[in-house]
Amino acid sequence: MQVTVYNCRPFDEKDLFIEYAKEIGIELVLCGDAPDLENVSLCRGSRCVDVITSKIDEPLIRAFHENGIEYISTRTIGYDHIDINAAKACGIKVGNAPYGPAGVADYTVMLILMSIRKMGAILGRTGLQDYTLAGLNGRELKDLTVGVIGTGRIGTTVIKDLSGFGCRILAHDLYEKEEVRQFAEYVPLAQIWREADVITLHTPLTQDNFHLIDKESIAQMKDGVVIVNTARGALIDSDALIEAIEDDKIGAAGLDVVENEFGLYYYDHKADILKNRELAMLRSFPNVTVSHHMAFYTRNYVETVVKDSLMSCKCFMEGKENPWEVTRAGERG
Ligand code: NAI
Repeated sequence: MQVTVYNCRPFDEKDLFIEYAKEIGIELVLCGDAPDLENVSLCRGSRCVDVITSKIDEPLIRAFHENGIEYISTRTIGYDHIDINAAKACGIKVGNAPYGPAGVADYTVMLILMSIRKMGAILGRTGLQDYTLAGLNGRELKDLTVGVIGTGRIGTTVIKDLSGFGCRILAHDLYEKEEVRQFAEYVPLAQIWREADVITLHTPLTQDNFHLIDKESIAQMKDGVVIVNTARGALIDSDALIEAIEDDKIGAAGLDVVENEFGLYYYDHKADILKNRELAMLRSFPNVTVSHHMAFYTRNYVETVVKDSLMSCKCFMEGKENPWEVTRAGERG
């Protein structure tokens, strides 16, 4: 039983892959690069490939098929980077590797706390041995109203975490959940804009919510509102956000994701001129914390996706019930 693993990171995944493959009796071919038409032959001899978010389009899927691949296992929750219809047309099945919401929820709470306690500015001063207090006065979460938009796996976990801080929690989703009602009040978006001191986003990006936070919604918000985004960059209109920060309308922001981050994040661009002015502006503000889409990135996450993606290949190869497969009849995609 052999699996070809692409995009295998040497610093955190490689040893885990080797250890776990040995444990469950799988042979590995490890490749540090994304799969493409040049290196596709590395998968010859394997029935399964293990990939991440690089584009797996129709020509690559056909090449996988020609090299004997029957199953694609992605070490991610989302699988929109894989052309599922092309895979189905070649008889290739696809599986994903969902991981728990706690890592992103923790990170979100951290960004909320960093934003209301001005941690970016504090760390900046500490680094310069400037131990003054002026301008660093923060707010306490128990005195604030937090608006959580999207109460799926992550939003619900954030709400439960926040409930321990004693803040008032408003929630909004297309579908309301009973378990959320113990901790939060579901309200229309307009009420979140009007009443929340902190707004945190936890929805996928869809055609309906592109630039959900824009000039118009910001105008309805409280002065000094804090915006936190660990979901998708394009939920916020960056130009409107920048303008509102410059006008002191928005008091702080914590952004794990930004618009047009694709191709930037996870690469070393120290010596490069980047074509993302919005990111440069946002990074320059002392009241904005920017991180490179890494709220998910915990030890637990790496272990889960490495183990489950391999286990999913093993289930497939042994013809067993495979809880990770997304191409079963009735599944989305
Ligand atoms: P989920 O699918 O469990 O929940 C999403 C929720 O958003 C659902 O309850 C859905 O009904 C709601 N929703 C969808 N469209 C909406 C709209 N227009 N208005 C209001 N509610 C809407 O998703 P999950 O796992 O909680 O992920 C949430 C977001 O976090 C996604 O955008 C995901 O891509 C992002 N994410 C970010 C990570 C990071 O490292 N920063 C890692 C993992 C996920």
